[in-house]
Amino acid sequence: PAPGWAAHADVVVVGSGVAGLTAALRCAASGSKVIVVTKALLDDGSTRWAQGGIAAALGEGDTPEQHLADTLVAGAGLCSEPAVRALVTEGPAAVRRLIDSGAAFDTGTDGEILLTREGGHHRDRIAHAGGDATGAEVSRALVTAVRAAGIETIEHALVLDLLTDARGATAGVTLHVMGEGQRDGVGAVHAPAVVLATGGMGQVFSATTNPAVSTGDGVALALRAGAEVSDLEFVQFHPTVLFLGPDAEGQQPLVSEAVRGEGAHLVDADGVRFMVGQHELAELAPRDIVAKGITRRMREQGVPHMYLDARHFGAEMWRRRFPTIHTACLGHGIDPVTELVPVAPAAHYASGGVRTDLCGRTSVRGLYACGEVACTGVHGANRLASNSLLEGLVFAERIAADIVGARPTAGPPVLPEPLPSPLPEAAARYEIQRIMTEGAGVLRGARSLERAATRLDAIAEGAAEDFARDGKAAPVCVETWETANLLLVARCLVAAATAREETRGCHWREDRPERDDTRWRRHLITRLTPAGT
Ligand code: SIN
Repeated sequence: PAPGWAAHADVVVVGSGVAGLTAALRCAASGSKVIVVTKALLDDGSTRWAQGGIAAALGEGDTPEQHLADTLVAGAGLCSEPAVRALVTEGPAAVRRLIDSGAAFDTGTDGEILLTREGGHHRDRIAHAGGDATGAEVSRALVTAVRAAGIETIEHALVLDLLTDARGATAGVTLHVMGEGQRDGVGAVHAPAVVLATGGMGQVFSATTNPAVSTGDGVALALRAGAEVSDLEFVQFHPTVLFLGPDAEGQQPLVSEAVRGEGAHLVDADGVRFMVGQHELAELAPRDIVAKGITRRMREQGVPHMYLDARHFGAEMWRRRFPTIHTACLGHGIDPVTELVPVAPAAHYASGGVRTDLCGRTSVRGLYACGEVACTGVHGANRLASNSLLEGLVFAERIAADIVGARPTAGPPVLPEPLPSPLPEAAARYEIQRIMTEGAGVLRGARSLERAATRLDAIAEGAAEDFARDGKAAPVCVETWETANLLLVARCLVAAATAREETRGCHWREDRPERDDTRWRRHLITRLTPAGT
């Protein structure tokens, strides 16, 4: 639909997690007029839910080189070394600037930042806040800084599509805004630079650690705008998510890797520490290896979960070091001080996304991406724990520097095309999630992927057929837009997972169990043709 209202800025930032707010602050500090648009409230994205912390070589004896080495190993041969080098060398100073912006990390009696360990790290290098509430503190500090800087924000605004000018350069975005008075309904922000920082797509699966807003909106927008998207098959399943029953759907409580970093053990239904002997780091192996170890043992024992044993922490440590997880467990009737905690893998992080260069530029002029929506190359086939908040910080600063240096311009936006096909019904969201969990989950194969593709195609074709037959179309609202985005990213994810005929990082094919470096040490890039195929 044609936008009913328009706002104007030098930079529009879409999303309000660590990446979006950092980009907004840095651009605004250099004099750009910035508007931040976000789908719910400013602090409703994934950042707020991050528990473990931010990885950076801040500790004595640690170096960016060691952080680089651990990141490359976790990425299973597909990281971009220059991108990782930028991450680990610029990371420590970026964390210090975050502290200068007001974020309070946990410190010891000497005032030094306390560091813990997570899977795949050979050093204690995870800075944390509020024990296990790092993301909440980062979000609080950045929201406060954005408000103090007077940056304009539009909440309850779902981004729809990229606007371009007659030359094909970025000229802004269209939005569907709910309940914002003058700016209700479909409108636009005109700007020559758009920073996508919309977070992940965890809601494409039934059970995920991601909040309800993580519906792949940025990747879907980028695909529709003709941008390149890379590595979609590499969805990370967090090994230890609180198990709430086989039919639990939606956002599930995370049990941070930091719990294992502080000494918790994974045990099976017989109380055996099954990760010992599978990897030199046992429970602290990179997360794809732990997720696979758990899934295999669940299958062998015919049970739906494993257990974390951290009873030896005692009540005081649970309350002080892991207050969020402690409260979540108690809320579900489990006392981790006296009981084993049931855990199972669930969708957690998209290692792939909108393909960028080292300055966060996508393949469309003026369109940038950072944070989980982006594929900068730092994660390869499997992100190293707690590198995500760091990536958001470092690459947001790089994007701001690029925009401020380039000062992009745009002509008037060309009016958006009418919708190419009707939106699917909002209720299809749950069917998409079930299809993806069954066919493209932690363990996939050619047959399960083919079934998933057929069922997803049927949802897309069903909406088009209903419309062609009797003009019946789902209402145009946030829920149906989101479902359309989920459907698009799900279909592209399944296509990428089908094409990659090997097992690598967090892409685990039961029919192709080996890593194949001769054929597959490369990236799969997805791009929609103008016809939408
Ligand atoms: C966790 O705390 O286990 C999650 C950290 C991450 O996803 O990087």
